[in-house]
Amino acid sequence: MGFISSEIIALIRERTDIIQIIGEHVRLNPSGTTYKALCPFHKEKTPSFHVIPDKQIYHCFGCGKGGDVFSFLMELEHLSFPEAVKFLANRSGIEIPKEYDPEAEKKADLYNYLDMAARFYEACLYDNTAGAAAREYLKKRNITSDTAKKFRIGLAPNAWDSIANRFGKTSDDLNNLERAGLVKPRGQGEGYYDVFRNRLIIPIVDVHGRVVAFGGRVMSPEDEPKYLNSPETETFNKRKLLFNFREALSAARRLNSIVVVEGYLDAISLYQNGIKNVVATLGTAISAEQIHMLARNCEILYLCYDGDAAGQRATLRAISLQKDAPVNARVVAFPDPSDDPDSFVSREGAESFKKLLEKASDIYTFLIETHTRGLKPPLEIPVKEKLIQEFKELVPAIHSSIARSEVIRKISKLLDMDPHVLEKEFEGREPLRSDDTQKKRTFISPALNAEVQRQEWVLKHLLEHPEELDRIRALLGPGDFSDPRLKKIFEAISFQQEAAGGSLKPAEILAALDETTLVSRLSELITTLEDRPPEPFMECVKGLVKTRLEAELKTLQQRIREAESGGDDSRIAQLSMEQIDLKRKMDILY
Ligand code: CTP
Ligand code: MN
Repeated sequence: MGFISSEIIALIRERTDIIQIIGEHVRLNPSGTTYKALCPFHKEKTPSFHVIPDKQIYHCFGCGKGGDVFSFLMELEHLSFPEAVKFLANRSGIEIPKEYDPEAEKKADLYNYLDMAARFYEACLYDNTAGAAAREYLKKRNITSDTAKKFRIGLAPNAWDSIANRFGKTSDDLNNLERAGLVKPRGQGEGYYDVFRNRLIIPIVDVHGRVVAFGGRVMSPEDEPKYLNSPETETFNKRKLLFNFREALSAARRLNSIVVVEGYLDAISLYQNGIKNVVATLGTAISAEQIHMLARNCEILYLCYDGDAAGQRATLRAISLQKDAPVNARVVAFPDPSDDPDSFVSREGAESFKKLLEKASDIYTFLIETHTRGLKPPLEIPVKEKLIQEFKELVPAIHSSIARSEVIRKISKLLDMDPHVLEKEFEGREPLRSDDTQKKRTFISPALNAEVQRQEWVLKHLLEHPEELDRIRALLGPGDFSDPRLKKIFEAISFQQEAAGGSLKPAEILAALDETTLVSRLSELITTLEDRPPEPFMECVKGLVKTRLEAELKTLQQRIREAESGGDDSRIAQLSMEQIDLKRKMDILY
């Protein structure tokens, strides 16, 4: 897809519901004719991210990011422009003429191979003889056939070359299968062999529902390793994907919470038991990106890891990461530490699991408990000192003052110390503030002076009344915009309007700007169309012209003075004529 015509891009934009697309990534709350959400591009606790459906744009007043639906996907999903166009074209059923970029096309091909493989594995599970043992295993794990179908669970046959033979007809095919993480070249000799053999196959699906990788579990305890996951590939970034994310989204938004588990089978089991807002990490520790993906969709994060030591470590890590995200993490503990989410919910049922969620402890309580497990007062002084050192890290990170004093109260009790003394001890450190306040300071523009406000207003007026461009251009030129960014936006509006033959869509001007600061400035203007100075519009235009003429007059008078001191009479005469013309213009204006 080398070059896509602007008509097609405009058509795709028109057929795309920006609210729906953005709504798949953040929780949008209607507010008048616009929608608000927590910004997906920076950390914040109060929503400053706006989406304006009738203008087809978004803008964040916190971090200044803004743009149209293409730029949203590019930024958030790290897509290239052609990828974003292609994705949205697909969704809105628009066909893009076949001049494509072979690279992007190849990546799209990988999804085909992955999907073919998923279908093949699934078919194997239902093979009368070859699939019998795997189906038996699923039964033993209490996974119903509905659930198996829902998750597209499959079976990799007990052979070295099922995939390589079936789908690797040409060297191109084999190359794609390798890039998709499905086959590997043989160490010695020719050919390729299958990555997954004799394993239960659990497809990993991205937010768009495409298969991007597989997890393969052994079915008998003596086989090793227990899990084999696809390697990182072009389609599979373990830090940016979560198992079951797509399916969990709507429930997570509705319930305002998500349950994070470590095992695919834990997630599948909870889902089957009606706990739909569940995701699993992909065999790696939870990443900051994953926490942000979740935080964009709900506020409460239930960390529900195994009760063992590894699970505790994973929980600690997750806690240290979530400090930076606008989520409220809680730690779910099983009464029997040998349980995991699957074993618990299978035995005790969904209602008991929900009770565990209700009883989940806040992270501070969890941290205090893990730090002091097994310690019994009275504590020895060195132990106390060590604990105080540890808690010093913890306490300043607590944003809410209620939580802080609660934690201090708990610690003081434990250490048998006066809470005020402890508080002093913890005060040494500057508390880490939610950085919202800092961001506001840097991002919200300083009180705009009247001149800039007028320039903004002209642009806003043009955005709403593009038909008036000619009339306004007769009065104002780019030179009337002292703010360099507003000047460039004015030029872009003029240019686009001419190119579009009078019909002007804000999203199109946005897309035509190539500097992010300009895009941000324009999306901000579009988002604040309603805020205008009380002055009548034509007064504002006149005001701008007046300012320019006054500036010109000043320069002219300066030149006249210079000419006078130089005794250059003909130059004085020339400049005086100009001055008269200028004053006449000003007279007409006032
Ligand atoms: N994992 C892995 N490689 C292993 C073991 C585990 O990648 N050798 C990852 C898998 O993503 C797995 C998760 O860690 O889903 C959790 O491991 P575990 O609790 O052992 O697996 P479960 O999915 O819970 O499966 P089961 O209930 O069958 O033990
Ligand atoms: Mn497990």
